[in-house]
Amino acid sequence: MSAKSGNFTIGDVTVDMPVKSGTIGPDVIDIGKLYNATGCFTFDPGFLSTAACESKITYIDGDEGVLLHRGYPIEQLADHGDFLETCYLLLHGELPTAAEKAKFDHTVSRHTMVHDQMTRFFQGFRRDAHPMAVMVGAVGALAAFYHDSTDINDPTQRMIASHRMIAKMPTLAAMAYKYNVGQPFVYPKNDLDYASNFLRMCFAVPCEEYKVNPVLARALDRIFTLHADHEQNASTSTVRLAGSTGANPFACIAAGIAALWGPAHGGANEICLRMLMEIGTVDRIPEFIARAKDKNDPFRLMGFGHRVYKNFDPRAKIMHKTCHEVLAELGIKDDPLLDVAMELERIALHDQYFIDRQLYPNVDFYSGITLKAMGFPMTMFTVLFAVARTVGWIAQWTEMIGDPGQKIGRPRQLYTGSPRRDYMPMGKR
Ligand code: CMC
Repeated sequence: MSAKSGNFTIGDVTVDMPVKSGTIGPDVIDIGKLYNATGCFTFDPGFLSTAACESKITYIDGDEGVLLHRGYPIEQLADHGDFLETCYLLLHGELPTAAEKAKFDHTVSRHTMVHDQMTRFFQGFRRDAHPMAVMVGAVGALAAFYHDSTDINDPTQRMIASHRMIAKMPTLAAMAYKYNVGQPFVYPKNDLDYASNFLRMCFAVPCEEYKVNPVLARALDRIFTLHADHEQNASTSTVRLAGSTGANPFACIAAGIAALWGPAHGGANEICLRMLMEIGTVDRIPEFIARAKDKNDPFRLMGFGHRVYKNFDPRAKIMHKTCHEVLAELGIKDDPLLDVAMELERIALHDQYFIDRQLYPNVDFYSGITLKAMGFPMTMFTVLFAVARTVGWIAQWTEMIGDPGQKIGRPRQLYTGSPRRDYMPMGKR
């Protein structure tokens, strides 16, 4: 890392602040000494200009629409590898050899079952509970079952917890779905690949043979790869912040799931499909475009825009292709939702409002249509995102815990409340 430096002067105090360069991407100004030297904090709500950590895992160039994991473009990983290969890459930093990959696949497949008492835990939820609510609780509860992998200072326990989480998330997600529809849980089948196993746990029933459709399994595997990591987004930052306190990894991932649920983040795939259904027909699109542009209307075009991408989201391009492959495989020729989506995309890409603000379709725009065609209910969309993102969260958490300079995350504030005042007895207020 090359070091430049810059001076910052406030009043009569000048602070020398090192400028650090990464391998690619913008430089950062190290402001760590600023407060001691000047008595001032920096102010950047929403982290618009603030790098909260140093990381070697994922790089995004939002202007060029580039996403790299450990240096490898997402397009190449999605086309040539499978999801567990990307998991290995994120966790270990390098692509696996054939022997390493076989061992990793075997290890993950041997952790797919959850403790049998977890089934009783599910029964505490209402049947109509949102599966994301169930996931926040169930994943947090894993810490109560796997005490032998909660010592964050032991690298072996950290790796076991990582394998456990990658392996058990699909099982818990499928259980959340089965509980919701009132069907018996389907145990994992470890000779199936990751995506096929998940499809089977979701859609098989004990009274019939279930045959995995390889085209759908490959599409789902690619969807998982597309969602595997995305550097310091809101849920990953939540995982890092929770982890910085020394909390156990299961609790940290549960915190990440909670942050992912919001409609501005992972919840967008569900809300986006609801929006397409509400629009319903192509002739109603202008009304919704007008609403999206109206400053007095809180409505936004879901599946459009991104904090970092100011160009096409590279994941959206692959998702678009995957969507068409799935619809073709299932023989869905005339999906009115797809017509609405394609026309909405066309109009938005030519509309000055969206051009000026660089609002392009993001990964969530086409994922909902694809997952719906596969048979997943809308409430499961964000759960699938969580299944895939677990590896990113855990890789980022592992990187942070392994960093000897790691400190508890503790942002400062600009206080705008009342200055000190004395308590007033109730009768005198
Ligand atoms: N529809 C209409 N206008 C929008 C949209 C949208 N989807 N997104 C941003 N804008 C406008 C916004 O009103 C603002 O306009 P102005 O400058 O006139 O005030 C301008 O674009 C900049 O918006 P911002 O809110 O400052 O941008 P942000 O970086 O804080 O927000 C975002 C990013 C993703 C939260 C936002 O674009 C959004 O709400 N999109 C819809 C939700 C969505 O699809 N989220 C999924 C993100 S991708 C999956 C993931 O990684 O989680």
